[in-house]
Amino acid sequence: MYQVLENTLLAPNLHRMVVRAERVAAARKAGQFVIVHVDAGAERIPLTIGDANVAQGTITLYIQAIGASTQRIVAVPVGGYLRDVAGPLGQPTEIEDWGRVACVGGGVGTAVLFPMAKALADLGNEVTTIIGGRSEPYIILANELGAFSKDVRITTEDGSIGRKGFVTAELADLIADPARTPQAVFAVGPVPMMKAVAEQTRPFGIKTIVSLNPIMIDGTGMCGGCRVIAGGETKFACVDGPEFDGHAVDFTSLTDRLTMYREIEEQCRLETLKGAVND
Ligand code: NAD
Ligand code: FES
Repeated sequence: MYQVLENTLLAPNLHRMVVRAERVAAARKAGQFVIVHVDAGAERIPLTIGDANVAQGTITLYIQAIGASTQRIVAVPVGGYLRDVAGPLGQPTEIEDWGRVACVGGGVGTAVLFPMAKALADLGNEVTTIIGGRSEPYIILANELGAFSKDVRITTEDGSIGRKGFVTAELADLIADPARTPQAVFAVGPVPMMKAVAEQTRPFGIKTIVSLNPIMIDGTGMCGGCRVIAGGETKFACVDGPEFDGHAVDFTSLTDRLTMYREIEEQCRLETLKGAVND
């Protein structure tokens, strides 16, 4: 059992949970994830390890509570327990001394981006961070990213903070500035965003890494649920990823697979809500 030490609402439907998981904290590397099983019979949910404190034996998880299972996880109060936290899983981020890198986070994807950006900065890269969201409440971790970024550029779709528009507008400016053009770009967020970033960098030959979030079940390469196509080959995001070369990913098939279970997911969410009302 894994005790919850902190459970904070960071943005609408987005919780930050600090969980005691000594072995995971000691072994994890940036870019890896865990699979959380909140209680008996619950769905297994993959969550990026947002940060870890080895001395305290804790890991930080960011959970977007949009479905029945994620709502059950965020409902665990401080002092409560998660039944299983399995990991660390997946390949760590390819951390190299690229020189100048751009880290681009869309919405909740910013939480997944955070450990990658931190590890890149720790190795001496000059990190420019671009984060975007629908409006100000959806902008997360700007101060935390600012602690090690050369600068943090913010975009919102309604212009409530930062530049009005998408993250790609800021990235275009960065690429166009010869003194700031990144040698590598790391992008995490909704699929259309990662696809747009990859198309933006392709003509310039800028190495682009994206973090994919297909449906996962076992997280160990056994079930095939997380398969994605990269470079024309079938890969399993849980063991070969979750990070891939953005220029090689087939984003169309990824989108199709992500929408396959939408109706069932909505049905489960409504049943959970109904159960909560009846309790
Ligand atoms: P959102 O839809 O509010 O978008 C956040 C920002 O991404 C936008 O403000 C914009 O700047 C950028 N963006 C979105 N579409 C774009 C486009 N077509 N072109 C350029 N930029 C674009 O994001 P959200 O609601 O916070 O995120 C939810 C989605 O992110 C879900 O689909 C979820 O599955 C996915 N997600 C992905 C990961 C991952 O590891 N890749 C992690 C968490 C969440
Ligand atoms: Fe089953 Fe990746 S989640 S193979």
